[in-house]
Amino acid sequence: MSKGTILSGMRPTGKLHMGHMSVLENWVKLQDEYNCYFMVADWHALSTEYQDPQGIREKARDMVIDWLTVGIDPEKSVIFVQSDVKEHAELHLLFSMITPLSWLERVPTYKDQIIQLGEQGKDINTYGFLGYPLLQAADILVYKATAVPVGEDQLPHLELTREIARRFNYLFNSHVFPEPQSILGKVAFLPGIDGRKMSKSYGNVINISATTDEITTQVRGMITDPARIHKTDPGHPDVCTVHTYHTIYNNEDVVGIEASCRAGSIGCVACKKALAEKLDRFLLPMREKRARLEQNPQYVDELLAEGAKKARQRAAEVMAEVRSAMKIV
Ligand code: TRP
Ligand code: SF4
Repeated sequence: MSKGTILSGMRPTGKLHMGHMSVLENWVKLQDEYNCYFMVADWHALSTEYQDPQGIREKARDMVIDWLTVGIDPEKSVIFVQSDVKEHAELHLLFSMITPLSWLERVPTYKDQIIQLGEQGKDINTYGFLGYPLLQAADILVYKATAVPVGEDQLPHLELTREIARRFNYLFNSHVFPEPQSILGKVAFLPGIDGRKMSKSYGNVINISATTDEITTQVRGMITDPARIHKTDPGHPDVCTVHTYHTIYNNEDVVGIEASCRAGSIGCVACKKALAEKLDRFLLPMREKRARLEQNPQYVDELLAEGAKKARQRAAEVMAEVRSAMKIV
């Protein structure tokens, strides 16, 4: 059987943080089982950042460097920027002709986001933002992707994608598009240093590219068991963010640390120091790879140009089938 095709993407938010690791680790694994397309969704970013679009390209580069440092491999996968492949825009436009307005208006994220981003002073009561999930459907279907690794928040967009695929095939009496399935990979919840969800907007992140000093400072600032005042007080590791990190990044010592914490025989300062050292060792190869890539900025440009070329080639084939099915050639 031939391999399935995956497309996934992220909006360019700049340097990624450790909360992104589990999603990226899923991508890295999928590279061996599927033909993968990994896309920087810069047009999607524009739907909410149109008032302040400079910097998107730079953020895209920074994000792609993080992808590479964690093991997304240009030898295995096609890595590209959405706006370099104009076929996405063409398919989005054609889909817009066949999509009932009500399908877009009822996407659950739509009204929520208008209110949420409105509170941040962003007016996204626009045509482009209404079409956000339709552009996403075009991203996926323009490669005839059969599977899409996404987070749970994106499931309504996948559902819409399948509905569009069915409607197109039905209207034009064709089998151009598959109905792509979502892959909900195991996503480990990693709290930020304040215990809330790790998010740039909360200022509680540890970046994948963090330096040793940054890691030390950020771990030092982590929330611990608030009831513990003296280092001989018995602690409650289950309510401690540092402990959550030990569970994931220091699995071999976590049982001992837990016992010492409960017994009051390890202090939080020492516990954090041990964690910072583990994290530093874990992130070191990524940091070194970033340093090499930053020394050679041309490499990333060339890689994205090469990725765009491959993506365009496939997208052009699919668009030819689309026009032919619609009899608009
Ligand atoms: N909407 C996605 C997000 O915010 C990004 C995205 C754009 C995407 N196009 C995609 C994800 C296609 C998967 C497939 O995370
Ligand atoms: Fe948390 Fe470690 Fe302090 Fe226990 S000793 S409360 S696990 S930081």
